[in-house]
Amino acid sequence: MNLRRPDGVGKAADDDMAGISLSTRALRTPPSPIRRLAYLATQARSAGVHVHHLNIGQPDVATPASFLEGVERFSDRVVAYNPSEGCPKLRAVWSDYMNRTLGLDTSADEFLITMGASEALIFIFMTCCDPGDEVIVFDPTYANYIGFASIAGVNLIPVHSRLDDGFDLPPLEAITDRLSPRTKAILLCSPNNPTGTVYDRAQLRMLLDLCRDANLFLVVDETYRELVFDGRTPLSVLHLDPANERVIVVDSLSKRFSLCGARIGALYTTNQELMAKTLNLAQARLAAPAIEQYAAAHMLENLPADYVDSVRQGYQDRRDVMYARLCDLPDVVTHLPSGAFYTIARLPVEDAEHFASFLLSDFSLDGQTVFVAPASGFYMGYSRGHNKVRIAYVLEPDHLADAARVLKEGLCEYRKRQ
Ligand SMILES: Cc1ncc(COP(=O)(O)O)c(C=O)c1O
Repeated sequence: MNLRRPDGVGKAADDDMAGISLSTRALRTPPSPIRRLAYLATQARSAGVHVHHLNIGQPDVATPASFLEGVERFSDRVVAYNPSEGCPKLRAVWSDYMNRTLGLDTSADEFLITMGASEALIFIFMTCCDPGDEVIVFDPTYANYIGFASIAGVNLIPVHSRLDDGFDLPPLEAITDRLSPRTKAILLCSPNNPTGTVYDRAQLRMLLDLCRDANLFLVVDETYRELVFDGRTPLSVLHLDPANERVIVVDSLSKRFSLCGARIGALYTTNQELMAKTLNLAQARLAAPAIEQYAAAHMLENLPADYVDSVRQGYQDRRDVMYARLCDLPDVVTHLPSGAFYTIARLPVEDAEHFASFLLSDFSLDGQTVFVAPASGFYMGYSRGHNKVRIAYVLEPDHLADAARVLKEGLCEYRKRQ
C-alpha cells in the first residue's frame, strides 16, 4: 500500500512514518513531573533497593471496608452502562454526605459523576472555554492542570505564590494584572496540591468578588477538602455562596477515601445550563464505571462516623513528622502545610531534578532510597521551581522518618560530589 498525504509530503505508509506528524496538542503536553523519573525508580527496585515513594499522592491508608463490601454486594447480572450523569444512588448519597458533613443544602441533580476529579476538570475546561481562552491558576499548581488545559487548548495564566509567604494568595492586584479579554475562569485548589496551603474565607471571598466583577467562572478543586489540620474546619466555597452560578466545585473520592484506583469524582454546580452542556460531553464518553459507583454509594452511606477524622489525624501526624525532619535538614527551607498531604521544600541544590535522579540512580542508604518530585513541573516558569521538590507525605510515620534520613544523607553526599 502506498498511502501519501494529499499534499504529497511524506513517504509510503508501509515504508516509514516520516510524513505523518502528531498534533501540536500532543507535542506540547508535557509528561507528568510526578511520573517522569519513574523509570529510575523501577531500575533502583530491580537493583534490590527499597524506594520510598514521596513523589506521588498515593495514600497507603486502607480503603474503607464498606467500599470493598459494596464491590462484593454488586449483584447485577449484567455490568451495564450507568446514566451519563452518574448512578442516581451515588448522586443522592454524595449530596447527602455533603449536606450532613458540611451543613450545606445541595441536591443530587447538581452533581455530575465523573471518572475522577481529572475528568471533571477536563469537562470544565471544555465547557467553559474555547481554544485560546485563558484560565488563571496559582503557581505552583497541580501539574496535571497543565495537561488538562492542553487537551482543551486552554492557556493557563500563572499568578505566582511564594514559599516564603506560605504560598498564600497573592494580593488582588497581582491577579487583576493578569486578566485579559480572553480570561474565562480562575481555578483554585484548596487544600492545595502541591503546597498544602488551605485558603481561608477572606481569600475565597476575594476571589468570589473578583469573579463577579470580572464576569468569570470560579472553579474550586476541593479534592482534599476534609484534610485540614490544627483544628481547622473543612471549608467549601459553597459555604460562602451556595447558589452562585459562576461557581463550579470539583470533588473526588480518590484521596480522602484512599480510592485513587476507583476513578470516581464529581463536578458540582447550581448552573443548570452549564450542567446540561457538560452532560452532553459526558454522554459522548457514555458513563463512569458501574461497579465502582455502586460501591462508592455503599461506602458513603456506611462510613464509620469517625472515618474522616481519623484519616485527617493520621495525615496530620505524618505532616508533623515530615515537617520536623525537613526543618532539621541544613539549608533546607519549607513551610508548615495546613492541609492535603503535600509540601514544597527548597533545597540547597541548583537542579532539584538532577538531585532527584541522583537519589534514584546513584544513592542508597541501608538498601533504601527516596523518590521526590522535582517541583519545576509544578511551576509554569521553570526558574522558580528549579531548586525545589514536592514531597507527598503519604507513608506511615516510621517509613517517613526513614525516608527523611535517606534524604538527609543523600543531600549531604550530593553536595559533596557537586
Ligand atoms: C488537586 C488535585 N486535583 C485533581 C486530582 C485528580 O484526582 P482524581 O484521582 O480524582 O482524578 C488530583 C490528584 O492527585 C489532585 O491532587
